[in-house]
Amino acid sequence: MATDASTDFELTSAWKQSFRRKLLAWYKQYERDLPWRKSRDPYRVWVSEVMLQQTQVATVRAYFERFMAALPTVHDLASADEQQVLRLWEGLGYYRRARGLHAAAKVVSSELEGKFPETVEELMKLPGIGRYTAGAIVSIAYDKPAPILEANTIRLLSRLVALRDDPTRTAGQKKLWRIAEELLPAKDVSRFNQALMELGSLVCTPREPKCDACPVESLCQARQLGVVGELLPTTKKTNYTELHEAAVVVRRGGDVLVRQCGPDERWSGLWDFPRFGVESEGPLYAVREIETKLAELTGITASLGPLLKTIKHGVTRFRITLDCYEATHKGGRLKSSKASPAVWVKPSELAEYPLSTTGRKIAKLLG
Ligand code: ADE
Repeated sequence: MATDASTDFELTSAWKQSFRRKLLAWYKQYERDLPWRKSRDPYRVWVSEVMLQQTQVATVRAYFERFMAALPTVHDLASADEQQVLRLWEGLGYYRRARGLHAAAKVVSSELEGKFPETVEELMKLPGIGRYTAGAIVSIAYDKPAPILEANTIRLLSRLVALRDDPTRTAGQKKLWRIAEELLPAKDVSRFNQALMELGSLVCTPREPKCDACPVESLCQARQLGVVGELLPTTKKTNYTELHEAAVVVRRGGDVLVRQCGPDERWSGLWDFPRFGVESEGPLYAVREIETKLAELTGITASLGPLLKTIKHGVTRFRITLDCYEATHKGGRLKSSKASPAVWVKPSELAEYPLSTTGRKIAKLLG
């Protein structure tokens, strides 16, 4: 029996039964009509859950539909080229997810005859599939008992038992996994786990949870003890680092220069305008540094023209101020390798290339 030592709260059979019944009744009424809920095809469940890991439902919707239209089966994904997969992922961020998806699809397609394993253990052997994604596939697609724990359920379960442990640390996580497992019903696991996430996402929200509208309010320890707002945060605080970078649109006749980011770069596999960190303070001093760094990175010499735009954006723990310049090609010999090819293209051709989010913004400025 799961007990949170600090509150001595026990999940009795009666409590669990009541929780399951109330949750499923609520879900019947409030389940959102989301595109990945139209079928229980493990491929669709897998792709949607990977997309939903770091991206909000509202954003994922359109990406998911487009991805499924382009690559409707695991075999289609396995045989797609990486550029197409990245193009479909463009703008979702955390591109490692897309590469993991592609790599796992190749294994499932060629070694498992297109059939996703039905156990958490087997699924976790696939690239990019962790305990959460494996649990989601087993429970949601196969309707077999497997716990899940992600942002919404961490918050919901922490409140439900008034967890005193830090939910971002191992001991707290271990307790939460055990609670998620204990709560599982004998049948209807697929709907149960989706209902947990739905309640976390719609009612048990991070700030100002809608306790008055919650179907399990009377079972919730944090609510009963009046400590909903006093539990430890469920996400780690990010310490941001400010960065100053420049991107350069080098023009040669009607063409512009783009390069594919190499394996050690932030957007490995994606294409971008030549881009690097800038240390000089003030635009006057920066010109020389930018021209020098452009030549080091690309082999191309160019004279820096006007500032097109300054874009502020965030990536993981970085807050970046990106100055985008135009430049005119002078000479040099283009550096291009297999790991990081560089090409001159017409701006209209950039539609075919998976670009970084800021690269796409710059491309749109070029018309
Ligand atoms: N967040 C993560 N997975 C989800 C799902 N299947 N439905 C809604 N929100 C989610």
